[in-house]
Amino acid sequence: MTSKLSKVIVIKIGGSTLGSHDTTIEDIVELQRQGKPLVVVHGGGKLITDWLTKQGVSSRFVQGERVTDQPTLEVVIAVLAGLVNKDIVAAINSRGGRAVGISGVDGAMIEGQIGDMDKGYVGAVVKVNTGILESLMAADFVPIVAPVGLNAHGRPAKAPPTLNFNADVVAGEIAAAIGAERLIFLTDVAGILDKSGKLLPHLSPHDAEALMASGVASGGMIPKIKACLRALSSTATTCIIDGRQPHALLRAMGKRSAGTTIKAVLRQPEEIAPMGEAMEAVFAPLTSRETQILNYVASGNTNKQIAAILQVSEQTIKNHIGGILRKLNAKDRAHAVVKGVRFLENPFVRKGKT
Ligand SMILES: Nc1ncnc2c1ncn2[C@@H]1O[C@H](COP(=O)(O)OP(=O)(O)OP(=O)(O)O)[C@@H](O)[C@H]1O
Ligand SMILES: [Mg+2]
Repeated sequence: MTSKLSKVIVIKIGGSTLGSHDTTIEDIVELQRQGKPLVVVHGGGKLITDWLTKQGVSSRFVQGERVTDQPTLEVVIAVLAGLVNKDIVAAINSRGGRAVGISGVDGAMIEGQIGDMDKGYVGAVVKVNTGILESLMAADFVPIVAPVGLNAHGRPAKAPPTLNFNADVVAGEIAAAIGAERLIFLTDVAGILDKSGKLLPHLSPHDAEALMASGVASGGMIPKIKACLRALSSTATTCIIDGRQPHALLRAMGKRSAGTTIKAVLRQPEEIAPMGEAMEAVFAPLTSRETQILNYVASGNTNKQIAAILQVSEQTIKNHIGGILRKLNAKDRAHAVVKGVRFLENPFVRKGKT
C-alpha cells in the first residue's frame, strides 16, 4: 500500500441523510479536489422500503438490520447497486467530481457468507479485497460502494451468489482492511446521544461498548458503533456526525469535528487494575515483552499505536500477539474472559473489574 492510500478517508452516507438540501455531495467533490483519497459507502434505507412497498414485499428489522429473503434481496440489489448508487455517482460527476460506482461484487471486493439465518441473505464479511478500491483511487476516482457482496464461503445449494450487507459493517470492514486514516458516518442524528439525549462528543472504545450493553445505543446506531470498534484495529479515528448539517463532512475533517468521535485512548499499562493471583498464574508463561504488549492491548491501544510506542513494525506486534494466544490455552482464555479481562474477544479492560 502506498503512503497516499494510507491516508484514505472512508465515508458512510446514510440513506436517510441524502435529501435535497444535503451538502454531502458538494463536500465529497471538494475533498476530492483537495487530493484526499476517499471511499464512499452508502446505505439505501428509505428507498429500499419504498420499493419493497411498491413491489408488495414487507420489511422486518432485527437489531437494526433488515431481514432479507429472496424477493427482498432482488429489490435490495436493484435499488442499492442501481438506483441509489447511480444517483450518487451522477450527482458527484455532474458537479465536476470523479466517481465510479461499484458494489462489493465488483472486483470480488467483498467476500462474505450468510451470517445469521434469522436475517436471511445478509452477509457477514469474511474478507475484503481492496485491489479494486486501490486501483480506482490511484486513478483519482472516488469509489462509491453499494453494500452488496459475494456469497463466497460455504454457500448452500440454491442460495444466491450475491448477499446484502449492512452498509455500516461494510464501511467498517473497508476502513479496517485499507488501514484508513479516518472513518466517518454521516447520519440523521447529532451523533451518539446519552440516555438523556445529550450529545457525547468523545468516547473511548470501552465507553462505546458500555452504551451498547446498557441499551442506550440501539437500533441503527449499533452497527455503526460496532463498525467503528472494528475499524479501530487499524484506523486512527472514527466519527459519527450529523449529515443534515450544512458541510458536516468538510467540518469533520477539521481538528474539532462535531458529532461523536470514538478513538482508542493511548493509555499506559499502569492504569490497568492489578490482577488477582489466579489471573497472574494464567499470564505466567508470558515473557515480559509479551506481558507489556498484552497490557497495551488490554488498555485499548491498537496494534498500530503499540507499534509506534515500542518502535517496532505492526507485523512484529501481530506476531507477538499470535505468540501470546498460543501460550494461553483455551481453558485459560475462557478463565480470563470470565474474570472480566476480555482482551481476546474484546481488547478493552473494564478498569477495576478484574
Ligand atoms: N444512543 C443513540 N444516539 C443516537 N442515535 C441513536 C442512539 N440509539 C439509537 N439511535 C438511532 O440510530 C439512528 C441512526 O441509524 P439509522 O440506521 O436510522 O440511520 P443511517 O444508518 O444513517 O441511515 P440508513 O440506515 O438509512 O442508511 C438514529 O436516528 C437513532 O434513531
Ligand atoms: Mg442504518
